[in-house]
Amino acid sequence: MEHNTHERLLIIDFGSQVTQLIARRLRELNVYCEIHPYQNVTDAFLADFAPKAVILSGGPDSVTREGSPRAPDSLFGMGIPVLGICYGQQTMMTQLGGKVVSGEGTAEFGRAFVTPQGKLQLLDGWFATDKEQVWMSHGDHVSEIAPGFVVYGTSPNAPYAITADVARNFYAVQFHPEVHHTPNGAKLYENFVRLAGFSGDWTMGAYREQAIAAIREQVGDSHVICALSGGVDSSVAAALIHEAVGDQLTCVFVDHGLLRLNEAEEVVGMFRDHMNLHVIHAEEQDLFLGELEGQSDPETKRKIIGKLFIDVFQKYANGIDGAKFLAQGTLYPDVIESVSFSGGPSVTIKSHHNVGGLPEKMGLKLVEPLRELFKDEVRALGRELGLPASFIGRHPFPGPGLAIRCPGEITRAKLDILRKADAVYIDQIRKHGLYDDIWQAFVAILPVRTVGVMGDGRTYDYACALRAVTSVDGMTADYYPFSHEFLGETATRIINEVPGINRVTYDITSKPPGTIEWE
Ligand code: XMP
Repeated sequence: MEHNTHERLLIIDFGSQVTQLIARRLRELNVYCEIHPYQNVTDAFLADFAPKAVILSGGPDSVTREGSPRAPDSLFGMGIPVLGICYGQQTMMTQLGGKVVSGEGTAEFGRAFVTPQGKLQLLDGWFATDKEQVWMSHGDHVSEIAPGFVVYGTSPNAPYAITADVARNFYAVQFHPEVHHTPNGAKLYENFVRLAGFSGDWTMGAYREQAIAAIREQVGDSHVICALSGGVDSSVAAALIHEAVGDQLTCVFVDHGLLRLNEAEEVVGMFRDHMNLHVIHAEEQDLFLGELEGQSDPETKRKIIGKLFIDVFQKYANGIDGAKFLAQGTLYPDVIESVSFSGGPSVTIKSHHNVGGLPEKMGLKLVEPLRELFKDEVRALGRELGLPASFIGRHPFPGPGLAIRCPGEITRAKLDILRKADAVYIDQIRKHGLYDDIWQAFVAILPVRTVGVMGDGRTYDYACALRAVTSVDGMTADYYPFSHEFLGETATRIINEVPGINRVTYDITSKPPGTIEWE
């Protein structure tokens, strides 16, 4: 396997729900790390990966079960620092000669307090008071530590909450330092990587240099095409590839007529005029809106848009001479293999919704320069590349665009009304300084007209719904608790400024059971 040139830390994943958080804590410390499922970490893998340190994650299994997961024994002979967490701690103890028991009195779930026992560098900055809050989630516990280990912290149900064999640089904790509920947890990771001698060489500046060199080597003098949506991932990928190969990159911005107010001009203007990228503005509004005419079923609408998008992208891409590569903004969470207990590791690779399937169809190879990055790192890289803050902090916008915010039949007239209302709403959110607190906000135009009164006249216009949610990853979401004052002011502005709307409602559904979009 090819590796980047940074110092590497390996996280062996035993299936914990929070393993990704370990990686994020380490990346925040400028340490490059990768997560690999335990099934893949063979002796040969370890030798090839050559980690500078290893962390063993938590996991749902019990080490007391015959055939439960283990780290390769060779790991403990490599002379590198190892930190075991929860299940990782228990397998480490078992493999090194200690004992783990399950049964009555061994479980501990939720908040717990650890009290110290002696001094340990891993705990620098801990125990300013006589105890530290930690998050426990274990059914079994270590009943006998392995030879060479010493106890440095205990909790009511974990007599060996923190142990270490300092001479070998082996550390083991029963709790989860990576979660929010272990308030001082980041400090443990900081101490661990310092003890392991990491220099903190993983910075976005360094990544930019390395990624550019890698793109140049991969692409050579071929041409790259990129579907630019104006979202953070495709924008950062395009800016990076452009820096690497300049005019060998052509971006295609598909304008399906379902974009927000001035969106096409802003995206094309920024990339073409300010950043000098070669951007094809595919003005295909008539095609998309024509095919959508008369369609009101959500899935049919999505399918029409998805298929046309591929057709259109392919048409423009075919016109680009020598295109051999397709750029995609795939991120690290999309490529981490998850631990599966039903056989081999299961691969969860999410294909980009818009261009999935295209590489094979067109015989293109993929360039995925963000594959090693978390979303917050993509934003940091975008800033490093000089993309404006307004682009980097943008709310997500779905590929099918306004189509899924216009339940029922789509007409140009309704889209125009929706665009104006949405612009007023987002303007309100920005003016009140709320944009960055909200994951995503938009207006949906409802397929219903209602009666109102304006001045002395009767109106019969569309109703709309405002949507604003908080979320971490879009998988679950909560509605944003606007003040009544904000909602009232926004409703008044929309009704006054947007002809065609005479009623405004606020959607207070969380996800689940709702979804963020209306279709
Ligand atoms: P839902 O509505 O499923 O949306 O709760 C979750 C997140 O995904 C976005 N979304 C999409 N993004 N293509 C996309 O690129 C799509 O087809 C699509 N559908 C939903 C949505 O905006 C939200 O951020």
